[in-house]
Amino acid sequence: MSSSAAMKKDLREVIEGLQQPEKMISPKYFYDERGSKLFEEITRLPEYYPTETELAIMRDNIDEISELAGAQASLIEFGSGSSLKTRVLLEHLRDLAVYVPVDISADHLLESAAQLRHDFPGLEILPVVADFTRPFALPNPKIMPLRNIVYFPGSTIGNFTDDAALDLLQVMHQEAGESGALLIGVDLQKDPDIIEQAYNDSAGITAEFNLNVLRHLNRAFGADFSPAAFSHSAEYNKDEGRVELRLVSSEDQDVSIGSEEFLIEKDETILTEYSHKYTLEGFAAMAGKAGFDVARVWTDADELFSVQYCLRR
Ligand code: SAH
Ligand code: AVI
Repeated sequence: MSSSAAMKKDLREVIEGLQQPEKMISPKYFYDERGSKLFEEITRLPEYYPTETELAIMRDNIDEISELAGAQASLIEFGSGSSLKTRVLLEHLRDLAVYVPVDISADHLLESAAQLRHDFPGLEILPVVADFTRPFALPNPKIMPLRNIVYFPGSTIGNFTDDAALDLLQVMHQEAGESGALLIGVDLQKDPDIIEQAYNDSAGITAEFNLNVLRHLNRAFGADFSPAAFSHSAEYNKDEGRVELRLVSSEDQDVSIGSEEFLIEKDETILTEYSHKYTLEGFAAMAGKAGFDVARVWTDADELFSVQYCLRR
């Protein structure tokens, strides 16, 4: 798809989202350059347990992970961001053939890839700027890999509805190929207070991150949202096992985007993100539907978070 056709599709999807009974904006619009930086700040917040916990799980189990991945694999990462946890893999996987980070946030991805090239000079690094929910081409590496390891850390899988998560796992199943595997970070259900605090940090960074979606739409599509006229809301929906992020309008307001005008009433909400938290059984069932068997699960002692190694059936 040409980039102008993709832009038109993006705009159409954004407008369709704003036409839903509850207005919604895809969480992929959090991630322009500022949004990616705000997410990095989130990962360093004391309340945001996922990043530090997942990093510790990776460090504690890297020998076994490296053994399972074997030598001369290609590492394909979906939603790589700043590739923080990936560094543990890049330092330990044997004779890695190539690292392919895929991300929608172009500038941030290319900056991260440049830094990694500097830190891992012998490794071929082939970044791909793409929306991974749409078909995209993977580059050809110089060294032929023996297997593909698809890496999807951070529990980004949780930002998708069950149907969309299943679609994505099926794409990863295909990318892994016959002899490949999926290494995935999966956040777990736990005390709702711990979860709600992680998305309502006292420094207000998650609120800024949430509001950034409006600035991004203003810039990308010439919309005229007033971020100051919205506030951040994040609540854990226990029945659905997910955090729900919303923007709440503080006044009646008109917003235009493309050729469309929307009335947003005082107290009306725009849904901006789900962040699903799974049980081990629930995730295994979903992975199973996509054709994966969960071969190994590593967690921290408090079972806040898991890293899972899935093999194709
Ligand atoms: N993997 C990192 C970053 C997680 S944040 C970590 O674990 O810390 C989610 C990342 O996915 C961001 O870098 C964002 O830009 C990217 N992302 C979100 N939706 C995407 C999409 N549809 N296509 C490609 N990348 C996407
Ligand atoms: C990227 N993703 C897994 C994060 C999450 O926790 O769902 C995004 C995020 N939203 C608010 N804080 C962090």
